Amino acid sequence: MLLILYVLYFLYNVSADLMEEINSRLPEDGRLNFTELATKYGLETEEYDVITEDNYILKLFHIQGDRTKPILLCHGADNSADTYIMRGNTSLAVTLAKEGYDLWFMNSRDKKYSQRNLYLHPKDADFWNFTFHEIGIYDLSANIDYVLNKTNQGQLTLIGFSQGNQIWFVLGSMRPEYNSKVKVAIALAPVAYLNHARLPDLLTWTLINNFLKASGNHVLFGENSILTAASRTICPIMKAGAEFCINFNIFPICGADPPGLEPEFVPILIGHTPSNLVRKVLDHMVQVKTSKRFQLYDYGTVTNIVKYGSAQPPEYPVKKISAKVELLVGRNDKQAVVDDIQILKQQLPNSSYHEIDVDLWNHIDFVWGKYMKEFLYPLVLDLLKKYN
Ligand SMILES: *[C@@H]1O[C@H](CO)[C@@H](O)[C@H](O)[C@H]1NC(C)=O
Ligand SMILES: *[C@@H]1O[C@H](CO)[C@@H](O)[C@H](O)[C@H]1NC(C)=O
Ligand SMILES: *[C@@H]1O[C@H](CO)[C@@H](O)[C@H](O)[C@H]1NC(C)=O
Ligand SMILES: *[C@@H]1O[C@H](CO)[C@@H](O)[C@H](O)[C@H]1NC(C)=O
Ligand SMILES: *[C@@H]1O[C@H](CO)[C@@H](O)[C@H](O)[C@H]1NC(C)=O
Repeated sequence: MLLILYVLYFLYNVSADLMEEINSRLPEDGRLNFTELATKYGLETEEYDVITEDNYILKLFHIQGDRTKPILLCHGADNSADTYIMRGNTSLAVTLAKEGYDLWFMNSRDKKYSQRNLYLHPKDADFWNFTFHEIGIYDLSANIDYVLNKTNQGQLTLIGFSQGNQIWFVLGSMRPEYNSKVKVAIALAPVAYLNHARLPDLLTWTLINNFLKASGNHVLFGENSILTAASRTICPIMKAGAEFCINFNIFPICGADPPGLEPEFVPILIGHTPSNLVRKVLDHMVQVKTSKRFQLYDYGTVTNIVKYGSAQPPEYPVKKISAKVELLVGRNDKQAVVDDIQILKQQLPNSSYHEIDVDLWNHIDFVWGKYMKEFLYPLVLDLLKKYN
């Protein structure tokens, strides 16, 4: 029964008109896009189109600063560049802009600002045939090269959140020549191994995945999906709606930190996320969790042998990531879990490890928490000074 409900959720979109009406009830900061939010908080944004080797056209935002100190910020699986601006005056974007850094915000191929390809349309199944692997190999590399070219620099700093780090672990290990282009990767809530991550269990996911595949659905939580519409309707219904969303949706997935997330912020948050989680990306994540290996996509034994020359997909050779990785870790993070980051750390040849000194610090506290300014930014700014 629950499964049927889930499936309905994923399957059906509400009309654009209804979605517009629902969005109109969100607070202003939940409705504004990246550029509009930046303007509201005093920053001017430039927009660029970056074309990947496999022909996707990605939107890259730029907030001008000291060109000798470029930073490329990479969002997680379920959000866009909005990640870094939606907290307004206390966001990382505003904070780093004040410090004079030259800021670049990527939007991977699946996110609302991108979703373009020279030859494919989002209506084509082939458009959605990728995982975080391709986002790392193609989207991240194209963005790095673009920023280095525009700023005329040899190196940049990466800041990632969640899967925004996993894509660097893919790129830095599979195309190690990119390590010389990265001064340091500051990894907020880094995800690689997912052994302990709160993801759907294999049976549930297999059922959902097969259903989605059979029904030709490539995306979960699309911009106009019923689930998105429902959460944007329920979460803003006064404090009770927000608390419902916090306790039954946000905290079970991310870890519970009641002081870190005030109910007033939830209607803003829900206006930007979840955003277009791709079926195959989630499939790859569940494979990584189930196998307990940080491995390439599993096509099944026969295709694996053809593609990889082995029945099991190879692991990402993270030992080849020579550029420094600063791991910033939350003790109460249920997606980027301490035990999983420990496994990663042992394999990264050039990394340091920092736990945020708040016991309840959870996954989203790194980008949307109420206390980033107190407990996170001093560390991030120190690290940036050290490498810039
Ligand atoms: C943001 O919204 C404004 C106003 O609707 C629009 O002109 C602009 O193109 C949007 N920017 C992006 C990146 O979608
Ligand atoms: C953001 O902070 C600046 C300076 O601290 C202030 O002038 C401005 O009014 C704030 N903006 C908003 C929208 O709160
Ligand atoms: C998806 O892309 C892979 C290559 O990355 C290819 O082997 C596979 O056939 C494609 N699948 C579909 C359904 O097009
Ligand atoms: C940037 O790219 C342009 C066009 O491809 C090229 O002509 C130029 O030399 C590049 N600049 C740098 C600094 O790499
Ligand atoms: C570790 O990273 C730092 C900063 O990126 C770099 O200078 C150093 O050469 C790296 N060490 C190794 C052994 O690669």
